Amino acid sequence: MSLPFKFGKVVEKRFFVNRHFEIDFIKQNILSQINITLISPRRWGKYSLVHIATNELSKANKQIKVCHIDLFNIRTEEEFYKIFADSVIKASTTKWEEQIKLTKLFFKKLIPKLSFGVEESNSLSLSFDWEEVKKDPSEILNLPEQISKKKKIQLVICLDEFQNISHFKYPLAFQKKLRANWQYHQKASYVIYGSKQHMMTHIFESKSMPFYKFGEVIFLLKISNDHWKKYIVRKFKATKKTISSKLASKLAQLVENHSYFVQQFANMVWLNTETTCNKEIIEKSLDQLLNQYEILFIKELDYLSNTQVNFLKALCNDETQLSGKKTISKYKLGTSGNVSKIKKALIDKEIIDQQGKTVIFQDPLFRLWLKKRYITNN
Ligand SMILES: Nc1ncnc2c1ncn2[C@@H]1O[C@H](COP(=O)(O)OP(=O)(O)O)[C@@H](O)[C@H]1O
Ligand SMILES: [Mg+2]
Repeated sequence: MSLPFKFGKVVEKRFFVNRHFEIDFIKQNILSQINITLISPRRWGKYSLVHIATNELSKANKQIKVCHIDLFNIRTEEEFYKIFADSVIKASTTKWEEQIKLTKLFFKKLIPKLSFGVEESNSLSLSFDWEEVKKDPSEILNLPEQISKKKKIQLVICLDEFQNISHFKYPLAFQKKLRANWQYHQKASYVIYGSKQHMMTHIFESKSMPFYKFGEVIFLLKISNDHWKKYIVRKFKATKKTISSKLASKLAQLVENHSYFVQQFANMVWLNTETTCNKEIIEKSLDQLLNQYEILFIKELDYLSNTQVNFLKALCNDETQLSGKKTISKYKLGTSGNVSKIKKALIDKEIIDQQGKTVIFQDPLFRLWLKKRYITNN
């Protein structure tokens, strides 16, 4: 029997929990050609949400074609334009004859070289003269709008891990180019999402930045404990096992209702449960999960300075006044200026995140591991 919970891959509808409001909101905005920016820490469910919403839209409406581009491993502007052009053309039609036709129609200055994979069908690939693109990438950036108009479709361009553009040589100039072209698009629309909260917020919420007021900004929240609880109980039942509401709620709460970890932890608990789940099974499963991650966490600590580790200790102990005098002296954090530096470094390393005034661990298991197995011995 396949496992009843799913993590790390695209979650199909049967593994998808709640987010009804967000799905409708995204669908309505796309239908009204309003761009969307979606921000949350990693693995809370941005991709899953966009995937479900755009899938539902394109199924119900043949005019809507969705193009997913992940910037995760794109490090230069040059790579971006290439992947962008390839993906947009492929998303608009699966017929290679038509792909060639569109390419010829809309590239007047840039004249890309076309190549096709031998084995894989639909593997059109464009390459450009970078010196030319550098001067003016408009033909590439306007492809979604041009193709949408020509084919009477609506191309929805989804850009994942958008904060990665910070690796480009001139991120600000790049954003200006995107915005300068995309702001005139009426048929094509954009869903942009990313996980480095402070960076994403800076790009989309600062008045001085090119993407300010580009569209609706959504800060994705966690799925509530109540929804997780019902989902876990239902999945156990469907596979002829039992878990009480109370324990299901406890399960999700132990990993702070973090989407990815709830699904992973629930699988562990389910595997350890023969017929009925109990408290001991939950504890044992948590131990197993921590064992599984232990090497990774130990390595992670290697990259942190002593004061950074001390700061994490303070956080584990739920200290609220992190730059208060008492906390600073208790955890040997130096000065309050130092605390800000530590915080910034840990945010950059994606260990913690700041949400309003509260600082949280990005990975609830790392926090648990520090609490249970590290701080007690140190
Ligand atoms: N709405 C949801 N319902 C159930 N599980 C979810 C949901 N959203 C995310 N997840 C779980 O979290 C994992 C990571 O989600 P993902 O969409 O890739 O996050 P992000 O794009 O924010 O990094 C998924 O593989 C899935 O296990
Ligand atoms: Mg993601």
